[in-house]
Amino acid sequence: MADGTAPRKLIFKILRYNPKVPGDRPRLQSYQLEEADGMTLFIALNEIRDKQDGSLAFDFVCRAGICGSCAMMIDGRPGLACRTLTKSLGAEITLAPLPVFELIADLSVDTGKWMRGMSERLETWVHLKEGEVDLRRIEERMDPDLAEEIFELDRCIECGCCVAGCGTARMREDFVGAVGLNKIARFRLDPRDTRSDEDFYELVGDDNGVFGCMSLLGCHDVCPKQLPLQTQIAFLRRKMVSQGMK
Ligand code: SF4
Ligand code: F3S
Ligand code: FES
Repeated sequence: MADGTAPRKLIFKILRYNPKVPGDRPRLQSYQLEEADGMTLFIALNEIRDKQDGSLAFDFVCRAGICGSCAMMIDGRPGLACRTLTKSLGAEITLAPLPVFELIADLSVDTGKWMRGMSERLETWVHLKEGEVDLRRIEERMDPDLAEEIFELDRCIECGCCVAGCGTARMREDFVGAVGLNKIARFRLDPRDTRSDEDFYELVGDDNGVFGCMSLLGCHDVCPKQLPLQTQIAFLRRKMVSQGMK
């Protein structure tokens, strides 16, 4: 290693299971790998797949914490594999797919299907007046502070870590998760969106939304983009309660 120490021997215990293969059963499979300088889980998994086991399934696109596709359970905690250095972990590393989402195979899950369903239910797009497509309104200058606030919430990469780390999401199939509540907070701020607070309440003012959240805060702890999820959820809840919506 660069610091002159001998490289560690890493042991990866990876949950293997392909639900589409008849008779396949979930099992932990071990792989050994010598640690290299600056090794991320992305690098390690690719090395395992290239040199030891071409059948190992996992997802990566950007390798830079932008696409959200490499989220997995890393030693029991949701995180992005491309942003996790092996040196931040012990010599034995357990990897498993994110829970809640549909399993494709091994470490690969279909977050897209879940996110699309949630986005359609919450209508996560700017709603203009019915029948009106006013480009001037869409392109109107926005107060820079407000634009900054919206941009902050727009940094969500839909990785699914907050959903995987949430006890409510595991119990309630239709719970929109911190990712969904964050989107509602984002569109509520947007001056171009013509929906009222009551409209937003219709979407998340129940146990699958704001009132299903038990403030477990796992979402806030694991979000790789450090979004202010706790603050946003608490704000939405207070707002709805103060308006007599619950
Ligand atoms: Fe991922 Fe954070 Fe977005 Fe949740 S809110 S999907 S943890 S980026
Ligand atoms: Fe889940 Fe986060 Fe609420 S972990 S219960 S959405 S505070
Ligand atoms: Fe895109 Fe990790 S590969 S976030």
